[in-house]
Amino acid sequence: MAQEDVFKKLVAHCKEYGFVFQSSEIYDGLGAVYDYGQNGVELKNNIKKYWWDSMVLLHENVVGLDSAIFMHPTIWKASGHVDAFSDPLIDNKDSKKRYRADVLIEEQLAKFEDKIEKEVEKAKKRFGETFDEKQFRETNGRVLENQQKWNDLQARFVKALNDSNLDELKQIIIDQEIVCPVSGTRNWTDVRQFNLMFSTDMGAAADGAMKIYLRPETAQGIFVNYLNVQKTGRMKIPFGIAQIGKAFRNEIVARQFIFRMREFEQMEMQFFVRPGSELEWFQKWKQTRMNWHQAIGFGSDNYRFHEHDKLAHYANAAVDVEYKFPFGFKEVEGIHSRTDFDLSQHQQFSGKKIQYFDPELNESYVPFVVETSIGVDRMFLQIMAASYSEEEIVSEDGKKDMRVVLRIPAPLAPIKLAVLPLMKKDGLAEKAREIIDDLKFDFNCQYDEKDSIGKRYRRQDAIGTPFCVTVDHITMEDNTVTIRYRDTMLQDRVAISDLKNIISGEVSLKKLFAKL
Ligand code: GAP
Repeated sequence: MAQEDVFKKLVAHCKEYGFVFQSSEIYDGLGAVYDYGQNGVELKNNIKKYWWDSMVLLHENVVGLDSAIFMHPTIWKASGHVDAFSDPLIDNKDSKKRYRADVLIEEQLAKFEDKIEKEVEKAKKRFGETFDEKQFRETNGRVLENQQKWNDLQARFVKALNDSNLDELKQIIIDQEIVCPVSGTRNWTDVRQFNLMFSTDMGAAADGAMKIYLRPETAQGIFVNYLNVQKTGRMKIPFGIAQIGKAFRNEIVARQFIFRMREFEQMEMQFFVRPGSELEWFQKWKQTRMNWHQAIGFGSDNYRFHEHDKLAHYANAAVDVEYKFPFGFKEVEGIHSRTDFDLSQHQQFSGKKIQYFDPELNESYVPFVVETSIGVDRMFLQIMAASYSEEEIVSEDGKKDMRVVLRIPAPLAPIKLAVLPLMKKDGLAEKAREIIDDLKFDFNCQYDEKDSIGKRYRRQDAIGTPFCVTVDHITMEDNTVTIRYRDTMLQDRVAISDLKNIISGEVSLKKLFAKL
């Protein structure tokens, strides 16, 4: 199945099974804003717990914070967001559609990459076992031609971005003959910068309302609390502050479902270090974060690092962790060495000394910062994309059937256990309820007595429940049940008293932490 179709199915599945809904749907929706349903919120909470515990519980020198979304407007002046947090936009005069100029060029780059990959795939099929991919990439004419086009365009693009040269961005779009996907024309306006922050007014207008911003990143809440946490927690450098919270960006190119949203959630950690040691810490966190991703078990080939060609105004090193989504490798997390930029700016704009006295060096300095920043929603999409699978199975009556199963790692699955009485009568329903009452404080359990057992299994597969327990007449005699495993569909007969042990070993986050 084409990857685009897989993605469409995934989006439909998210809605059908209560994971993600379009915001304000009964009013025809609000662009790039989404709500999480009964299963989605559980998965989201589990992702956040996996991140939070891996930061705050597993690192003695990382503590948490929950800062407000509204902050003093000068913070965004100091951080550079008021002046520089913008995207280069271009309009097509015929369709009146607006695009990000950099995204149009990136899509053009991706076309060259696609052409190369198609050549490689074709050759793989033609030559079979004897195919030498490395040699093919280095010698095939069409591959080399497209690679050269990619190299030239990439070099020109990076230079234009680094020089903030908007005219050159437009010229690239014209030279590459990029057309508007809606009108099909090349009738473009000039490229302009557009600030991504949402603003609102605080206080009544008559009192002189203050224009404030909805935070576009959670990180600034950490920077402005650096002194509070360092002093009250008697924290010694190096140490980190972790925070999970909402962020808001007026994204113009808001596509690909929850990949790019206007309201989203970040999990950020700022790690404060001695000046000069930041690049070493950057390398450490880069590896730590990649391990965290790979511990989930979706295959190391599906992840890669992407080093930034253009560094943000505050960074001296930056890398993305990318995951292979159905629409290609895309950023899930950024790791940035932010130097002392933010703390120095806040020191200057607030007039308050923001420094650390280092007893070992016997001197004070503004700490340097290494940041890890991951979007909860992107992580959610990654897990859904990696877990979604359509499989042919043989049903109980011997017929071929299909099942959709979410192979969500058990520690992250929304519901851990479904308890299903074979029938409602003969005390089976009551027995199933008893089991739930016993386990509900340990695991998120679901009771289901409607439809055939096969249909009930299918419903649980579709939301990724790793265990289904069936209560039948034998249960009433000897207090045993069948336990069915989602991934293998195999079943065991076990004592009810063993259920807690069997399940807890599989669904505990400790299973993931053991791999870190
Ligand atoms: N404090 C640094 C920072 O915010 P970023 O690369 O702009 O860096 C970090 O964002 C992460 O936040 C991204 O890797 C992505 O996972 C997530 N993110 C950013 N913009 C997003 C959006 N519009 N929708 C969903 N997630 C987004």
